Amino acid sequence: MCGIVGHVRPLAPVISSAATPEVEGRTLCVLLDGLGRLEYRGYDSAGVALVGPSGLQVAKAAGKLENLRAAIAAEPPAPATAGIGHTRWATHGGPTTENAHPHRAGSIAVVHNGIIENFRALRAEVEEAGRALLSDTDTEIAAHILDMDFTARLAEATAADPSADPAQVLVESMRAVTERLEGAFALLAVTSLAPEAIVAARRSSPLVIGLGDGENFLGSDVAAFVAFTSRAAEVGDDQILLLRPDSVTVWDKDGCIVEPKGWEVSWDASAAVKGGYETFMDKEIHDQPAAVADTLLGRVDERGEIQLDEMRIDPAVLRSVDKIIVVACGTAAYAGHVAKYAIEHWCRVPVEIELAHEFRYRDAVVSEKTLTVAISQSGETMDTIQAVRHAREQGSKVLAIVNAYGSTIAREADAVLYTHAGPEVAVASTKAFLAQITACYLLGLYLAQLRGNKWPEEVADYLAKLGEMPDKVQWILDEQQSVVRALGAELADRSSFLFLGRHVGFPVALEGALKLKELAYVHAEGFAAGELKHGPIALVEEGLPVFVIVPTPRRPILHDKVLSNVQEIRARGARTIVVAEEGDDAVDAFAEHIIRIPAAPTLMAPLLTVVPLQIFAAALAGAKGLDIDQPRNLAKSVTVE
Ligand code: F6R
Repeated sequence: MCGIVGHVRPLAPVISSAATPEVEGRTLCVLLDGLGRLEYRGYDSAGVALVGPSGLQVAKAAGKLENLRAAIAAEPPAPATAGIGHTRWATHGGPTTENAHPHRAGSIAVVHNGIIENFRALRAEVEEAGRALLSDTDTEIAAHILDMDFTARLAEATAADPSADPAQVLVESMRAVTERLEGAFALLAVTSLAPEAIVAARRSSPLVIGLGDGENFLGSDVAAFVAFTSRAAEVGDDQILLLRPDSVTVWDKDGCIVEPKGWEVSWDASAAVKGGYETFMDKEIHDQPAAVADTLLGRVDERGEIQLDEMRIDPAVLRSVDKIIVVACGTAAYAGHVAKYAIEHWCRVPVEIELAHEFRYRDAVVSEKTLTVAISQSGETMDTIQAVRHAREQGSKVLAIVNAYGSTIAREADAVLYTHAGPEVAVASTKAFLAQITACYLLGLYLAQLRGNKWPEEVADYLAKLGEMPDKVQWILDEQQSVVRALGAELADRSSFLFLGRHVGFPVALEGALKLKELAYVHAEGFAAGELKHGPIALVEEGLPVFVIVPTPRRPILHDKVLSNVQEIRARGARTIVVAEEGDDAVDAFAEHIIRIPAAPTLMAPLLTVVPLQIFAAALAGAKGLDIDQPRNLAKSVTVE
């Protein structure tokens, strides 16, 4: 996550705009407006770098954008011709002013969205060159590497031709440096030596161009510049860009100039904060492929081994663990419930799932050999905080799986494994759930690797399968969304729903029911499919909508049992809505509606099967005219017990 914005205009501008009448300060205005619209992507700190006749100026501040605005108001920068801005969601290094972007090195300033995976090796190079690092970020290292290359290349170029263009040299440096970077990045750089230029590069992190008249823009998404232009153009992976006031040049990875594909943005600035989606929940559902991919980023080293940098618990302690207790609430607890199946299977360690508020008040068996895993999106849920404290008092080490950097749970735990889902604004959790499962799986595979339960090739195989999940989630969003939305609208008048699942499908059923309860205010219950006959089947009556999560047919022992359950409820009049793999024709005869997911191994399936349930709940609530982002009686972070 993180939001980036860039703007370039001529040295002697003749630009007038109702939005920013003060021509002199237009670049700063554009950057601050863009950062305001991108603040949903991160709000730990913000900063801008400006270049112009007065050289390079950088202003940054920890906390929300208003702190940066105040800092700028106190010390207004001189007018600029190009500028880059950043609003941060901390990954490497805490949310401090030092760690805020832009990062400066020599004549250069850089902003970055993404994670540079090989930053440790690059850091050694920067330190060897005798350069002082002021922050803990991977980005500052990239800034120095870029400046070192640029300084050397520019000296060579001007020796050969004193009129060599520094902007063009910076393009060459950007190409050379990004070839050495591993991971994901959208990088923007300005230099005081070329004050009418921005040079940028992108790999697996979002970046779009905004095309103006006599000025040009860059942004993490079009929200960054939609107040100033509605003409946008795509940036492909591994492309390098040079933006000048009157031109945009794009090179592909072979160094050939390519024509960027343009489009007209169809929504206006008022929708920009939601990235063009109607609700934050809709946006966050669509963020899910990135949430999974970003949570996986930077966690595997060059030998293919999982490295959890934040794992500050002694490996000897982790080897001696004889039980794991997951403490969490709501959706986070269901993520832990999914993970139980995987961690027990991979590590042969028993995993208990405890609702955090129950754990504390019963006499749970906890010892120094227990690893407590606290899962929380906000890191501020009071029930989970208290459970963390209780576990530590009992001598257990606590590992937190948290989304919000520097939150209370992250600070109080012995170690933190961050999910990189970015800020989740809608009250109902969606992308955090997928990121939590992903992080739990990384933990499970890490423990299996450490304790020797799995061969390196087996760990690598699971990681490869996890790596395929973002594309599979995207397939559901692309191919199944309209069917699921239509079903949500069609069933908007129903007052009761059941959700059934077996094995990892069981916590997914619980999560599907929770989403519907909290968003649409209808009765919804999730059951283990095998439990139905032991009582709940009495609820089934003519026309009752029942969602059934069907396991992959490649696990017949699970698949066939669930199919029997579908037949049992169908025979009693239920309206069966089946979530099943593509190509699983066995469900056709028993399903009134079929929602397809791409084929995936059993343990990976929850990352897919939950997505249609989220879309369904939001669509049904939308059809009822309810407030999807802020359902009644709920708060995003439950900070009381
Ligand atoms: C449901 C939901 C809640 C949270 C729960 C824990 O959509 O969002 O059930 O999952 O309140 O919150 P965190 O993860 O912040 O501890």
